[in-house]
Amino acid sequence: MPAHAPAPDPSPAAPRPLRVALLGCGVVGTQVARVLLEHPDDLAARAGAPLELVGIAVRDTTTPRDGVPPELLTDDAASLVTRADLVVEVMGGIEPARTLILSAIEHGASVVTANKALLAEQGPVLFEAADAAGVDLSFEAAVAGAIPIVRPVRESLAGDHVTRVLGIVNGTTNYVLDEMATQGLGLDKAVQQAQELGYAEADPTADVDGFDAAAKAAILASLAFHTRVSIDQVAREGIRSITTDDVEWARRSGYVLKLLAIAERTAEGVAARVHPALVPTDHPLAAVRGAFNAVFVEAEAAGPLMFYGQGAGGRPTSSAVLGDLVSAARDRLVGGKGPRESAYASLPVLAADAAVTRYQVRLEVADRTGVLAQVAGVLADHGVSIDTVRQSEALTASFEAEPASEPAAEAEPEETEPLARLVITTHAAREASLAATVAALDGLDPVRQITSVLRVEGV
Ligand code: HSE
Repeated sequence: MPAHAPAPDPSPAAPRPLRVALLGCGVVGTQVARVLLEHPDDLAARAGAPLELVGIAVRDTTTPRDGVPPELLTDDAASLVTRADLVVEVMGGIEPARTLILSAIEHGASVVTANKALLAEQGPVLFEAADAAGVDLSFEAAVAGAIPIVRPVRESLAGDHVTRVLGIVNGTTNYVLDEMATQGLGLDKAVQQAQELGYAEADPTADVDGFDAAAKAAILASLAFHTRVSIDQVAREGIRSITTDDVEWARRSGYVLKLLAIAERTAEGVAARVHPALVPTDHPLAAVRGAFNAVFVEAEAAGPLMFYGQGAGGRPTSSAVLGDLVSAARDRLVGGKGPRESAYASLPVLAADAAVTRYQVRLEVADRTGVLAQVAGVLADHGVSIDTVRQSEALTASFEAEPASEPAAEAEPEETEPLARLVITTHAAREASLAATVAALDGLDPVRQITSVLRVEGV
């Protein structure tokens, strides 16, 4: 050691506790509070200073919260955020979360949030505020609950080139599709079961219609491609129209139906979309069952990576929140700052109809000579290349007239027409070309019904 080096202080002063404010005390907040209260020594040792829970903002302070001392509860969130070093926001929704986070940042607090909707809608405002104030804004829990995916994408892969992210990031819809596939349940019954198990809300719209997954897709796309992508730039289609037939046809064709959040880099820019997709049964995402989540990342140097785990629930999500909290505490103690928003690439965000993917189209046609050639001609005319065509057993459709109120004395014999069911899988095609193809097929004389159009991913 050089002669001029100061001797180490034999009894360094204990670091002052860092004050933690919690906004929200639902399943995640309660669990975060419990861990802060029950494991103070471990957390202090890992963070470098005690983490002192100074208050929990809730709407109703009279509701008892299991394991949470009532004296910590307050309905004055606005003042709580001004007297904390670290603010954890697990209340969800846009307001008052946005105002409270901005106030916390202005008052110098680092913020940990699980609020995917807010980040996907207003992320840049929050990141800029945090940057200006020199504080951390961390959000591991906002995407796929317990799964470490934000940190790996923005830190571990910072030296690589991510090309595509495919995520099962909504546990409720994964559970619903899995029950449809394995138990033969209809969508409504499977959703009801998800509600009974506490996966789905009383109003399941955010999950079933893909809003929750779209917010996560926006966050993942922004991180992976260093480009701001907001939720309104994510093409979104939920699982509401998925039928047991779709699920069964997926199985017969060697696929599993999954609701995917997709973020990809193309030659033209960045695309983000959420929709049900047929995933080959041998793809790692096909093995993600029940309410589990997984994110499959493709990077140029690293190759394929898969992150798997529990994407929701109080305890799993609290793990991600507490991890961020400990990191933010460490940053504060050394006077440093965690990673900032990285949006330097600022790539064009592509419109939904620019997406290029493979499709499976199922349709019913009159079983007549030349019909297959006509159908193939429509695809060719739109530049959509066919990979496979499968014709299933002929069905017989009845074209009986609507029954009259008074039955006719002598009923006409029922008119029937033999039908064929076609399952066409295409090579990669632009969404716009496929949409035009489907519209043209729908107008073709022998086509009786376009039964479904599903994208094929992970091939
Ligand atoms: N409702 C979400 C899900 C969890 O079912 O995965 C919160 O994003």
